[in-house]
This record gives sequence, structure tokens and C-alpha cells, in this order.
Amino acid sequence: MAQTACGIDIGGSGIKAALVDLATGEFSSERLRIDTPRPATPEAVADVCRRLLDELGVGPDVPVGIAFPAPVIHGVIPFMANLDESWVGIDVDALMDRVLGRDVVPLNDADAAGLAEIAYGAAKGVDGIVIITTLGTGIGTAIVHDGKLLPNTELGHLEIDGHDAEKRASSGQKTLQDLSWKKWAKRLQRYYSHVEMLFSPDLFVVGGGVSKNHEKFMPLLDLKTPMVPAALFNTAGIVGAAWYAAQQRQRP
Ligand code: BGC
Repeated sequence: MAQTACGIDIGGSGIKAALVDLATGEFSSERLRIDTPRPATPEAVADVCRRLLDELGVGPDVPVGIAFPAPVIHGVIPFMANLDESWVGIDVDALMDRVLGRDVVPLNDADAAGLAEIAYGAAKGVDGIVIITTLGTGIGTAIVHDGKLLPNTELGHLEIDGHDAEKRASSGQKTLQDLSWKKWAKRLQRYYSHVEMLFSPDLFVVGGGVSKNHEKFMPLLDLKTPMVPAALFNTAGIVGAAWYAAQQRQRP
């Protein structure tokens, strides 16, 4: 596998990129961040990716993975919950080929975070079913079984008590609705116990920026499944995208 790859993480407020040392899962360049353009149309976002790759000096031989806040089915985005709607139906490979003039490997952002936690973080070497959730503007999920990802799960959109789950329990909603940790934890309890009932995981890994404050809400949850904070905090999207791109490059 390549020694170095580049990861780009497209988020609602910022687009972040870095080179990653694949032996350690650590950044081997500085992390660059450019505000997400408004509106975040495919062309505008692709242009930011181009600027980031230029600034990092990423050569044509370095694999590039791009994490999107949406499922990516065979290179195409079928729906977009938290970025511009004009992404729906976009063929990401063709778009990036046109704007960047190179191959990239697109994937879902929570899948990227999950892969990073498996390769380098809190779920390294864990057998059985691991569910990685990212709590941010939305709720992203990755399901891994014996180290193998089941891609594009969208458990943030489970309908619970008549609501789209992420509209109740994401950390974005905590901020928007100014919920206390205790009130938010009640919503998380409802969410995680439902996911637990459906999937009987062996481990939950909780990522997203808010996982830095895990001691504020994790002890309030009562679940059968062990739950740990992500080890990579907010670098997981970039690291997982880079790792996945290098893996894909290796395949015949
Ligand atoms: C999207 C997922 C994404 C998650 C976190 C959800 O709204 O549907 O694909 O992983 O937000 O960004």
C-alpha cells in the first residue's frame, strides 16, 4: 500500500484536507481548512478541493480520498441531507475528473471515520460488530463486522417516535435547541437503545467533535453495549478517506 495518501473531509462549515502517513494514521502535512462555499454546489466544492490539493502539493501518484456527508453509491450521491441539494444524482468521479483532472476515491464521511477507528483508533483489533456513530450536524453511522465495513448505512435517518433521528439527537440539534447535556443524553439514550435493539453490536464508538466532551454525556447513558469515544476525534474523516483511497488503489 502507498505510504502516504491525502484525505479531504467535506463538512457543512469547513472543507479540511491533509496528507496522512498510513503507517501511523497521523498527519504528515499541516491540516488545511477552507470555509464550505455558500451555496455548497458541486462545482464550488470541487473547486475548493482543487485549491486544497494544490496548496498541499499533492502529486498525481498520491491516492486521494474524499469524504462526503452523504451516501456514495457507486460514485453517485443519491440524497443529501445537510449540504446543497444540487448534489443529488451527481457522479462524483466525473465531477472531480473534470475539475481536478485526476482520479479520486469518494466515500461517506461516517464510513471514513469508521475505517480510521478500525485501522488506527478505538476499534482497532475489535472483532464482532462495531457501530461507529459521528455526532455532528447530522448523525453518521458505520457498521463494521470483523473488520469489514458494510458501506453506506444511514442509521442517522432511522425514524424514531415519528422523527428523523438526527433531527432530535445530533449534536447540531443540541446546539440549535440549546439542550442541556442531561436533556440531550435522554435523546441519545432513545437513539442508541433503538440501534442496540436492532443490531446487537459488540461495541459503540462515538465520534464527531462533541466526543471530546464524552465525559459529559456518555456516563448518563444506560446501554448493554460497551461505548467508547473515538480515538481520532476530528481527524478521523481525513485519515479514513486517505486510508480507503490507498486501499482502493491497491486493488487490481
Ligand atoms: C447523512 C450521512 C452522513 C451524516 C453525517 C447524514 O445526514 O445522510 O450520509 O454520514 O449526516 O455527516
